[in-house]
Amino acid sequence: MKNIAIMCSGGDVSGMNPALKHFVEYAKKNNLIPYFVNKGYEGLIDNDIYEATYKDVAGIITRGGTKIGSSRSKRFLDYKYREIAKNNLDALNIDSIVVLGGDGSFRGLHQFYKDFGVRFSGIPSTIDNDIHGTDYCLGVDTALNIIKTSIDAIRDTASSFRRAFVVETMGRDCGYLAMITALTSGAEMCLIPEIEYNLDDYEAKFKEDVKNGRDYFLAIVAEGIKEDSSEISKWFEEKIGMESRVSVLGHIQRGGNPSIYDRLMAYKFVNQAVDALLNGRDESIVCYTQKGFEYKSIDEVTKPYKLDTSLLNTL
Ligand code: F6P
Repeated sequence: MKNIAIMCSGGDVSGMNPALKHFVEYAKKNNLIPYFVNKGYEGLIDNDIYEATYKDVAGIITRGGTKIGSSRSKRFLDYKYREIAKNNLDALNIDSIVVLGGDGSFRGLHQFYKDFGVRFSGIPSTIDNDIHGTDYCLGVDTALNIIKTSIDAIRDTASSFRRAFVVETMGRDCGYLAMITALTSGAEMCLIPEIEYNLDDYEAKFKEDVKNGRDYFLAIVAEGIKEDSSEISKWFEEKIGMESRVSVLGHIQRGGNPSIYDRLMAYKFVNQAVDALLNGRDESIVCYTQKGFEYKSIDEVTKPYKLDTSLLNTL
């Protein structure tokens, strides 16, 4: 192993650029030659692969997204394209890849390993924080901080205008972002796909709150719940009698200056991922739990993710 590549796959996260920067530094420190693959699997297929230099990573630490781009590639599912990708890597003498992505991306490289023996380490990276076996995925801290800043601002206008705000967070079918946000922003309502809810259960309490002087509400709802956020807003108007607005935070949650925690975690994840390959591990996913860093198997991390909702009982 001499030449080593890194790529990003799936939804980008803030923290990928610090990881790329550190990858170049750490690879060189270990006498490896670092390569970048642009646009994820698409770049592997299209031979968009090049040796990375310090110049490529200068100044990127403060930027969200990923300098080398990402993609959700359908072509890589096809053996014919994986073979092209393998030939491209062979031409550059690259036999090991670090991938920043989610479980779908890891499955792709697992298949690639089975086909051609290309070794890989995976770094869980998704703002959804929904990968089995790891408590933390790169990028989630920045996303939560962006959401926090947005919601603190929404609270200002909600309280000034006596309104109920329904704020929709991302997460696909996982309620992690909504749950942590609701807890840490002091929201009155948190709706996530993992927990059955009935709006009627909130009615009496909220009416009582209004009677006792409450003049605004914050409801945090995950994008994956069964209802549209506008229906929750309508419920506030019709049942609680308070003017309401919806704010869908959308893709601002995916960008922004990486938090300090995500920067540091990016470095640590990269060290673990490169070390795994240097130490002869063919396929490992770097996970982070209360025990610290651990390598887990592809089978482990592709199990269905189950959100621990017990934290919500503190609401
Ligand atoms: O998986 C990350 C994520 O941001 C989800 O939270 C969201 O549902 C999805 O990606 C949005 O995907 P796209 O960027 O393709 O619209």
